[in-house]
Parts: sequence; C-alpha cells; structure tokens
Amino acid sequence: MRKDHAFVMRNGVEIPEIGFGTWQIPNKEAHDSVTMALKNGYTHIDTAYAYQNEENVGKAIREFDIPRDQVFVTSKLPSHIKNYEDTLTYFQETLDHLGMDYLDLFLIHAPWPWDDIGADCTEGNIQAWKAMEKLFKDGKIRTIGVSNFSVSDLQAIIDSCEIVPFVNQIPFYIGKFHEQKELLDFCEKHEILVEAYSPLATGEVLNSDEIKKLAEKYNRTPAQICIRYCLQKDTLPLPKSTHEGRIIENSKIDFEISEEDMNMLDDMEDVRKK
Ligand code: A2P
Repeated sequence: MRKDHAFVMRNGVEIPEIGFGTWQIPNKEAHDSVTMALKNGYTHIDTAYAYQNEENVGKAIREFDIPRDQVFVTSKLPSHIKNYEDTLTYFQETLDHLGMDYLDLFLIHAPWPWDDIGADCTEGNIQAWKAMEKLFKDGKIRTIGVSNFSVSDLQAIIDSCEIVPFVNQIPFYIGKFHEQKELLDFCEKHEILVEAYSPLATGEVLNSDEIKKLAEKYNRTPAQICIRYCLQKDTLPLPKSTHEGRIIENSKIDFEISEEDMNMLDDMEDVRKK
C-alpha cells in the first residue's frame, strides 16, 4: 500500500518511498553524503555492517537536527552470519556502530556468504531469521526482512518461521524486469515490499540512448527516469551518490511515465549483461 510519499508495510510501519543508499560510500565520505541527503529532505537511509560505514552514517544522523523517529534507518546482518546467537551479537554491534537503540529495518544481507555465492544455507537462514523475529518481538527493530533472496530462499523462511519477511531488497533497474518478474509476483502475493538497490545499474544504464531520449521527452534526467521506473513498478528505489546536485536530482521524482513508455522500458535489455 502507498500513502503520500511512503510505502506502508503489513504491520502499518511507513517507509519513505525513496531511500538514500550508502553501498560503496567509504566511511570517511559517508558523514558528508548522509548529511547532504538529510539536508535535502531524505528521511530514509540504508546502510549495512558490510559497507563499513555504519559509524559515520549513524553520526551524521545523530548530529543532524532531526528527531530519531523522523528518520527511517536500515542496516543488514553480514552475509556469513548464519546462526541464532551471532545474529543477536552482530545486531548489537550494528546498533553500537550507529549509536542508536533501535533499527527501523534489519535485513539478512544475502542467503549465502558473498565469498560462497549459491551455497545452501537454508538452515542457517532459518536460525538467523528466528533471532530476527526475537529482536522484532522485543521491540528492537520495527520491521525485519531479507536481501538478495530468491523465491525458494523466501519460501524456506515462510515454511519454517512465524513472521513472513516484510522486505526483500534486490538488484532492480530498467532491464531487470523479466528476470525478476517471478520474484516480484511472489513478493506481491506475500505482501513483501521489494526494495530496488542499484536503481541506476550503478550508473551504467544512464548512457542508454533510449533512456536519454525518454528523459528529453519528460524533461527530466536519465537518473530520474530510472528512479521513477522503480516506483511505478511498486519497488522502493535506493539511489546513491556522493554529489549534492545528484542527491537532489534523485529525490525530485514528481512526474509519471506513461503506460506505453513503461512497457518499452520493461522490454529493454539489461545493460550490465551486454
Ligand atoms: P556519484 O556517487 O559519483 O554521484 P546506483 O544507485 O544504481 O548504485 O548508482 C550509483 C552510481 O551512479 C554512482 O556511481 C553515482 O556516482 C552515480 N549517480 C548517482 N546519481 C546520479 C545522477 N543523478 N546522475 C548521474 N550519475 C549518478
């Protein structure tokens, strides 16, 4: 469900419809970037233990003149943590890094460790998820979710646990629609909000001639077309930039792409696969 400029999750928690992503923003630049984002109206910041920038992301939020409950903060459990006790320990480390006493959203970063992509960690994910459920019930996290999970990874959690993930954060951008369609449909059926990371394909999609042409037609920039596309696919984009002009540009998405143009964008090839 959508409300004003937010998505509303199954338990009524509202999440601002565009988040500021901080992947690949080094710790020393994270303070300035997050401050610029907050200054320009972002109220949703996404980080992860693995990004190694939680300290400065947290510091920027704490130092900014905004009440904690007016900023939606997400972080993620490292991908190699696949048991109950370590999940509790790493969650506390994340809170300590951020200098906060709760999170708005905590995600299992991936179904497998990044150095063993594709490994079957079903039992470990279930154990980690049970710890997330405990933290959620204890009021330490307002919503819990996963990232990079496939349909079968999600199904395993749904079959063995009490709480269906509220969120699945996946790579999604123009060119990814057909590849991700089954997953998008599954998430919609289970009321799992899909967050789109790398909504600009890490910048690679911005040079596409089709997107440039469309940007001219709508009098917007290619990045704005990409972000608007994600929103119209009912996914929550997490663009990132370290430049203030771009940070502002990525938040001004007050236009609509026509159905015909959306269909054309759905059928585009994934630029990262060329
Ligand atoms: P920079 O940080 O130098 O601005 P994604 O969010 O898909 O991962 O893409 C992030 C990449 O896209 C970064 O390299 C970022 O560079 C670049 N980027 C972000 N916003 C814009 C924009 N509005 N125009 C052009 N490039 C952008």
